[in-house]
Amino acid sequence: MEVIIQANAELAALTAVDFIARALSAKPDLVLGLATGCTMESVYDLLVKKHRDEGLDFSRCRTFNLDEYVGLAASDPCSYHHFMRQRFFDAVNIDLRNTHLPNGMAADLAAECTRYEAAIATCGGIDLQVLGIGLNGHLGFNEPLSAFRSRTRVQNLSRVTRAQNAPLFPSPGQVPRRAITMGVGTILEARQCLLLATGLEKSEVVAKAIEGPLTAMITATALQLHPACTIVLDHAAASRLTDNDHYQRVAATPNYNGSAPPLPRLQKTLLTDQA
Ligand code: GLP
Repeated sequence: MEVIIQANAELAALTAVDFIARALSAKPDLVLGLATGCTMESVYDLLVKKHRDEGLDFSRCRTFNLDEYVGLAASDPCSYHHFMRQRFFDAVNIDLRNTHLPNGMAADLAAECTRYEAAIATCGGIDLQVLGIGLNGHLGFNEPLSAFRSRTRVQNLSRVTRAQNAPLFPSPGQVPRRAITMGVGTILEARQCLLLATGLEKSEVVAKAIEGPLTAMITATALQLHPACTIVLDHAAASRLTDNDHYQRVAATPNYNGSAPPLPRLQKTLLTDQA
């Protein structure tokens, strides 16, 4: 696991976006796993900016989102379908036929989950999975006690998760009780994982996720099992890591060859930040 700590949320988002852009430039038909949530808003804004200003090309990119609420139509302003179109897909040159989200309106939800897994496999698996983290440590909507080998399935949302997402709905009672989510096992099969977390409120769960112990009660701890996982944090989210200094030293080592593509600009930022 590689941990990159940046001075603030803006730099952390920039770092994540650089990482994604590099992966896309290296493989224009990248299979990109995508996440939603407030943390991702700046990531999509910056990707759109990179598309407009630098011509970052999404024309051959294939995407799979982590999750979608059960019972929300794609046109519903609170759905992840809507979020993705508004925030990202409609603002870049991606072919909508290459974008995928689970269908939370499917009559047969189990069949929809099987179909989603098959669609990922047909594309050759996910190259880079972008992740946020819930306050209870969930990835996607893998709530506490999700098996590390779980696949795409329907999950009942916990009270913590429904409360966390309530501000995005007209009223707390309107937050759906269930969602379709990629499983932890599905996420761990991605060739690379990139998790972005910012802000003090995430610091406790981030420390648990990175420094363990492994537990299905905090599904993000499963990332410790992934061979190529990069975690990008701002100082606030990193503030409860016990070995904060060590992570910064390792990332700033000149010959350090982490799981990420080479990031010369980023390492300079880290060094500057430390000085
Ligand atoms: C939702 C999503 C998760 C995301 C989480 C974090 O629960 N299903 O994939 O990681 O929100 O959200 P935020 O970035 O708003 O804290």
